[in-house]
Amino acid sequence: MEEARKKVVLSGIQPSGTLTIGNYLGALRNWTKMQDDFLCYYMLADLHTITVRQVPAELRQNCLKTAAVYLAAGLDPEKITLFLQSMVPAHSQLAWVLDCYTMMGELNRMTQFKDKSARHADNINGGLYTYPVLMAADILLYQADCVPVGKDQIQHVELARDIANRFNGVYSETFRVPEALTTQNSASIRSLSDPTKKMSKSESGDGTIFVLDPKDVVLRKIRKAVTDSDGEVRRAEGKHGINNLMNIYSAVTGKTDGEIEREFAGKGYGEFKLAVGEAVADLLGGIQREFERYMADKAFLNQVLIEGAERASYVANKTLAKVYRKVGFYDPRR
Ligand code: TRP
Repeated sequence: MEEARKKVVLSGIQPSGTLTIGNYLGALRNWTKMQDDFLCYYMLADLHTITVRQVPAELRQNCLKTAAVYLAAGLDPEKITLFLQSMVPAHSQLAWVLDCYTMMGELNRMTQFKDKSARHADNINGGLYTYPVLMAADILLYQADCVPVGKDQIQHVELARDIANRFNGVYSETFRVPEALTTQNSASIRSLSDPTKKMSKSESGDGTIFVLDPKDVVLRKIRKAVTDSDGEVRRAEGKHGINNLMNIYSAVTGKTDGEIEREFAGKGYGEFKLAVGEAVADLLGGIQREFERYMADKAFLNQVLIEGAERASYVANKTLAKVYRKVGFYDPRR
């Protein structure tokens, strides 16, 4: 009997700053759970990052740090392929081809493009617009079966499916049609200062807890988190701040809403916030110690990235060659 093919998983995070606990709880932690059962490609989406202006030295540093955080979070480079998108040229190459199979009308509908254009009104560049096509290339190059993403990226995965189906329809089966995987655990972590918004890496205020925040900073940010005047720790519609803190506490400790509500019955928000802060700081402390260990060994990190790019390139180039052949590019070497 044929051995069951391991399903292929691809995902990525932009190395546009230090990762947040939202990135950890919603993405990285789930990725580590998948590394034994799936063939995983986890990338640092640095090509996507330059759709918003970056300081070159900071981007370089963030790439290295993000790679170290991936490993510190428990990703094992022996089991997965961890790589930097810009080190695998096939991403840019396929993106161009797919640009020609994507309609402007489709791109115009992308809600993230609309949001980002509003936030960066002085730099609405072509890359921001075709960003989802590059993301489709990321996914389709590896013939991914599933793409673990947050809710805000589902629309992009849907577009990747549409592009894949369109291309397959014109030229015969070329790409596997991927599915978005929004795990139950991808607890939606909101900003502490405005819990109606997603917690964002690019926020500068106290709304975001970064994976590398020291304990006192974590405690302070959570103490200052926006809540309501009801004073009772319980989940309810409209209690955005408390719901968010309950999401965080539950994601970190594994406790259910019921357990949390009982634990803090009759106690105030202050006590609850302290418990959330301690739990988060504990979790992050462990990751930070590992992070420091990896950062102290740059040669090892570099080696992981070089090997990752080689492995990724091998797979990606196979798909790219197939695509080039199908669209009719002439290559005397073939
Ligand atoms: N766009 C994703 C984000 O900002 C990052 C990303 C780039 C990605 N390429 C991807 C995620 C491919 C999943 C698959 O969160």
